[in-house]
Amino acid sequence: MQCASVSDYREWARWRLPKLAFDYLDKGAGDGDSLENNVHAFRRLQLRPRVLVDVTKVVTDIDLFGHRYSAPLIVGPTGLNGLYWPDADSILAKECAMQGLPFVLSTAATDLLEDVRKSVSDHPLWFQLYVHENRELTLSLIARAKNAGYSVLVLTVDVPVHGKRDHDIHNEFRLPLRPSWRLFDDILRHPRWAIQMLTHGTPQLVNIARSLGQQPNLLAHAGVLSRAMDKSLTWNSLDWLRDAWTGPIVLKGIQSEDDARRAQQCGFDGIVLSNHGGRQLSGVSPPIDGLEAVAAQIGDSMKVFVDGGVRRGEDIVKARALGASAVLTGRAPLYGLAANGKEGARDVLKLFLDELHIALQLVGCPSMNMLGREYLR
Ligand code: FNR
Repeated sequence: MQCASVSDYREWARWRLPKLAFDYLDKGAGDGDSLENNVHAFRRLQLRPRVLVDVTKVVTDIDLFGHRYSAPLIVGPTGLNGLYWPDADSILAKECAMQGLPFVLSTAATDLLEDVRKSVSDHPLWFQLYVHENRELTLSLIARAKNAGYSVLVLTVDVPVHGKRDHDIHNEFRLPLRPSWRLFDDILRHPRWAIQMLTHGTPQLVNIARSLGQQPNLLAHAGVLSRAMDKSLTWNSLDWLRDAWTGPIVLKGIQSEDDARRAQQCGFDGIVLSNHGGRQLSGVSPPIDGLEAVAAQIGDSMKVFVDGGVRRGEDIVKARALGASAVLTGRAPLYGLAANGKEGARDVLKLFLDELHIALQLVGCPSMNMLGREYLR
């Protein structure tokens, strides 16, 4: 059967991956309520089409930090992508370059940031940073991203500690990973995935390893990353970052109007309204619900991005109508990648772009820049 939507790719990914890996990709904090709310919040928003508008030509491209992209869709940072397919980060970066979309490489990427940069010659790439207690490790990551030519730094601020996820407990997914019959059985039921992993090697947090000057060791470095985030980071302790990175800086994980205003006052170039795809805290509201108020307050002085629950091209239209500069997507391209490698990732991005194009024609809005509140009920 040909996949017609992101949710079709989700089912394919569920079939192909061991439960442990699929749940890591798919599920959320607590029992998943924040994640569910993110998806439903987009569904609840209803479009209000206008008719008898000339939509022969539709313009979706936008400017972000001095570059022209084909649509307001950013493939957001996701860690451990090598768990789904070998060379996952390079594949995603290349597919984004082909479609003219920004790609954000995670600190927890499983491909070297320098290799990912080389794989897409002149397309702009963004780098996502987790601030680690070990400041030298953090500065080394920033310096490497800068030297490699990444253009935008995305500082994730919603992970002082890792959230509690019920499914990790059900799956006995804790570090160090202990061998168990359940794990063995899970892997044996997914022989193609297992053979692919055996042939290409298990994914590693190679960027952390390189910046620490150590040999890759997934279990050790996943532990380093999750246990030693800098929990003391505050608005007043970010000056060093400005000295280390001269390009645009976007704060990812803002969830309140006050923090959005604070980011603006501190001179950041953008924010991502985000609850980390509902992966951190149970019981938080969907970022899309807070977008309109934040965007109205911020105006044009800073980019306002939003993520969490974007599954269709129509969702991009809804977010733009509420004032977002662009949306980020996390899980959707991963479903495609996990299902069918680069073809799957490519198809998911194309689905988004096709659905966006059709949605704009059907709401009677020939240009992204003309979208406003009047296109929503
Ligand atoms: C993430 N996300 C994330 N964010 C980040 O800043 N750094 C990271 O390393 C990761 N890792 C990560 C792994 C996986 C498997 C997922 C699904 C997500 C969060 C991500 O960037 C984004 O905020 C959400 O995924 C957006 O929600 P949707 O699109 O997945 O609903």
